[in-house]
Amino acid sequence: MKVGFFDSGVGGITLLSYARDNAAGEDYVFYADEDNVPYGTKTAEEICALTYRAVSCLVECGCKAVVIACNTATSAAIEYLRYKFQDMPVIGIEPAVKPAVTHTGHRRVLVMATPLTVREAKLRQLIDRFDQEGQVDLLPMPELVTFAEREEFSGNRVRDYIARSLDGFSLEEYSDLVLGCTHFNYFKDTMASLLPESTAIIDGSAGTVNHLVHMLKQRGIDGGGRGNVEFLISGRPALPGSDFAKKAERLMSRAREMREITRGTL
Ligand code: DGL
Repeated sequence: MKVGFFDSGVGGITLLSYARDNAAGEDYVFYADEDNVPYGTKTAEEICALTYRAVSCLVECGCKAVVIACNTATSAAIEYLRYKFQDMPVIGIEPAVKPAVTHTGHRRVLVMATPLTVREAKLRQLIDRFDQEGQVDLLPMPELVTFAEREEFSGNRVRDYIARSLDGFSLEEYSDLVLGCTHFNYFKDTMASLLPESTAIIDGSAGTVNHLVHMLKQRGIDGGGRGNVEFLISGRPALPGSDFAKKAERLMSRAREMREITRGTL
């Protein structure tokens, strides 16, 4: 049986790439809701309905567990999905606020996410739990999703957008930048070039995949695969050799490259 991954678009491929490299004994199905991306500017109700449809499709494909590889869908819909699919592990991804705050000392933490993630109660609750000293600032970055979907990862437009968004923050004060949207992982090189050397850039990939591995083992449903991946575009199969399958391969290798950029002390 396979492990399903879901994202509004191609952002979750960064998490899938991490899973394939670190849990290679599983087969995967990745559902990209390309017909409806972006999610970050939708309402929580719309996201619940779209995500329910996607996870239902992954269940029909015979998935034994589903990873919501989207911070936005996790914040809007994870409780609803767990209620609807009680017999199957549904694992979400959240901005890595806890490791950032634990690591930061008295310096600040900047969390970049989509507008929905920034305004939903889930992130607020996470920050309230770990940020005793009010060190965390939030920054919505919706345009990065659009850039990632068209594979525009470098160049002036991307650089100017990120630089403009960071304008006004005293960057030297920040020990950590938390990437709270899976689409943002593709831009780590540009972000690193704009931040001070001492600012760590972190995301939730390792924590989420470790949690998945632990959950599968605990339920005795781990293994049995060989790292194969199939892709679904809003439910329709993307055949091997199709444009989307080729794009996904390019994005998997970009995701791996970006993971190799280690910054700061985390
Ligand atoms: N990749 C998604 C996330 O992690 C959502 C991007 C979007 O569709 O707005 O938040």
